[in-house]
Amino acid sequence: MPLDASTLKSQLVDSFGRRVSYLRLSVTDRCDLRCTYCMAEKMVFLPKRDVLSLEELSRLSDVFIRHGVRKLRLTGGEPLVRRDVIDLFHDLSRHLRTGALDELTLTTNGTQLARHAEALAQCGVRRVNVSLDTLDPARYRAVTRLGDISNVLDGIDAALAVGLKVKLNAVASRGAFEDEVDDLIRFAHARDMDLTLIEEMPLGETGQNRDDTALSLRDLQHDLAQRWTLKPHHRSTGGPARFMYVAQTGGLLGFIQPMSCNFCALCNRVRVSCTGRLYTCMGDDGSVDLRAPLRHSEDATVEAIRIALQAKPERHQFDAGKMAIPAVARHMSVLGG
Ligand code: 5AD
Ligand code: SF4
Repeated sequence: MPLDASTLKSQLVDSFGRRVSYLRLSVTDRCDLRCTYCMAEKMVFLPKRDVLSLEELSRLSDVFIRHGVRKLRLTGGEPLVRRDVIDLFHDLSRHLRTGALDELTLTTNGTQLARHAEALAQCGVRRVNVSLDTLDPARYRAVTRLGDISNVLDGIDAALAVGLKVKLNAVASRGAFEDEVDDLIRFAHARDMDLTLIEEMPLGETGQNRDDTALSLRDLQHDLAQRWTLKPHHRSTGGPARFMYVAQTGGLLGFIQPMSCNFCALCNRVRVSCTGRLYTCMGDDGSVDLRAPLRHSEDATVEAIRIALQAKPERHQFDAGKMAIPAVARHMSVLGG
């Protein structure tokens, strides 16, 4: 839809002309799992007093929505471990009713989804992304260090039962994952779920050497194409995933390849941590504080966002040849992907 001049002026645009229409808002840095590619075994989480209140998270979302954000995703850590997070979803759902927001959604590890699926659906959530890298209970436990896969499978069933569209996200890795990926494709597509494969990114120290684990999706796709008929599919989520239609299953398989294929030119998103720091790029340590301006005024908040956007990098600086050393010190759990 073309925008009139005054609406256009209120929009958030970076110095490369990319308009911000998508906010990913972390509501907690905590998680009930410790996935090996994401966290170290012993994590020190933020003191609760540093974390924005639900009221502040809501107000901050309002500011972004008034300035052109049409899609809001709550992330973590694990968003569903934040106490009363459903109240926040409920509060934010008013933007769906007014039409200010096209989509309210979340990324979850699924462990608590069985409990919350119905309430989420009632808040107008239509789609959820669930992280699941394996269907094997022992390997699930090994990857997550703590998890019981039956909780996630129950969560997925509950979400599907209340009519939520579920997309599975799997982080690709060398070894067992390659043996199992066909099963994941069958599992997802048999339940009418899309499956997106993600390349591991060098974010934060995990105690493992990513040179030993990271798998190029370019290679994996080549391998998959020996067994599956993959046809490019032109569904764009405005995001980094490239989708292929799998002829044998009739389902969609997405590839997110930050390491082997760059997609930054179309970037429409920013991320905010649960302490209210705005990160304009996943692959860059740069961030600005929005908590202090938020406590001051909306104008101050918008000003801070605009300044940050001027410094949004043109592209991330991840380098597939340098996986052993984290490109940024922050863990994925600060921003939840
Ligand atoms: N690289 C790529 N994906 C990651 N995730 C967590 N850490 C990393 C990483 N280092 C994934 C999780 C989840 C999503 C939020 O991010 O598996 O699907
Ligand atoms: Fe938790 Fe997600 Fe990180 Fe796993 S990847 S530890 S589920 S935040």
